[in-house]
Amino acid sequence: MGFLRIGIILLIGIAIIGSVNGDENESFRKRPTIVKMVKGTKMCVKDWECGYGVATGGPLAWGLCYNKEMSPSQDYCDDYFKLTYPCTPGAQYYGRGALPIYWNYNYGAIGEALKLNLLDHPEYIEQNATMAFQAAIWRWMNPMKKGQPSAHDAFVGNWKPTKNDTLSKRLPGFGTTMNILYGDSVCGQGDVDAMNNIISHFQYYLDLMGVGREEAGPHEVLTCGDQKAFNPTAAPAAAS
Ligand SMILES: *[C@@H]1O[C@H](CO)[C@@H](O)[C@H](O)[C@H]1NC(C)=O
Ligand SMILES: *[C@@H]1O[C@H](CO)[C@@H](O)[C@H](O)[C@H]1NC(C)=O
Ligand SMILES: *[C@@H]1O[C@H](CO)[C@@H](O)[C@H](O)[C@H]1NC(C)=O
Repeated sequence: MGFLRIGIILLIGIAIIGSVNGDENESFRKRPTIVKMVKGTKMCVKDWECGYGVATGGPLAWGLCYNKEMSPSQDYCDDYFKLTYPCTPGAQYYGRGALPIYWNYNYGAIGEALKLNLLDHPEYIEQNATMAFQAAIWRWMNPMKKGQPSAHDAFVGNWKPTKNDTLSKRLPGFGTTMNILYGDSVCGQGDVDAMNNIISHFQYYLDLMGVGREEAGPHEVLTCGDQKAFNPTAAPAAAS
């Protein structure tokens, strides 16, 4: 039942995103949608997908079945934001939604933008599909920080890399959307599973939607293994 429900949520999401996205032609318009679904795989794909190696059709065929992180390792409360986005006692800010959001500051910022009290009620995102997709679309369309591209702009090619971006190996395309949304938990670590699993889901959906994986572009566009994160999680250590 859970599986069916999430499948329906995803389909509705596709319709919504397809209709709000006015970029380019149809095959291009489909792409952000596909990425959005794929992004559900996040850093630890196992938390979101219910397929497994010996399942019929292979693991990818089962897609993303969960609307929340299945085994969160923490409550994702960052005290640095205690003045702007204070954690509500007892609330947990683990990954939830169609394009998962994590951490009090993300729930806080998205709640502010959408006028939803997500700091007190992060669980709305796993209980209400409308909110889940509002949050996902907002996250997709808005940059993490001023001066950085949104995942959407990086994906459809609206974004023009600066010299810094080029030096950091960030170029328009799928790899950079992973950089924006997941940073160094996925990117800049070479050819790691966390990244490759997301790419595999992306390619699977490209095929499924008739776009074709060969349209996804060359390896350097598809991956972010060599990219420097836009927003590194820790201050870089002094060069050693
Ligand atoms: C869609 O747009 C892209 C980029 O603008 C172009 O390369 C491609 O040929 C277009 N496809 C169709 C079917 O018009
Ligand atoms: C889900 O969220 C939407 C948007 O905030 C709201 O209009 C709707 O009433 C909510 N549905 C339920 C069942 O709470
Ligand atoms: C380019 O990167 C350097 C080093 O990270 C930084 O100090 C500088 O502000 C960046 N320039 C721009 C225009 O982002």
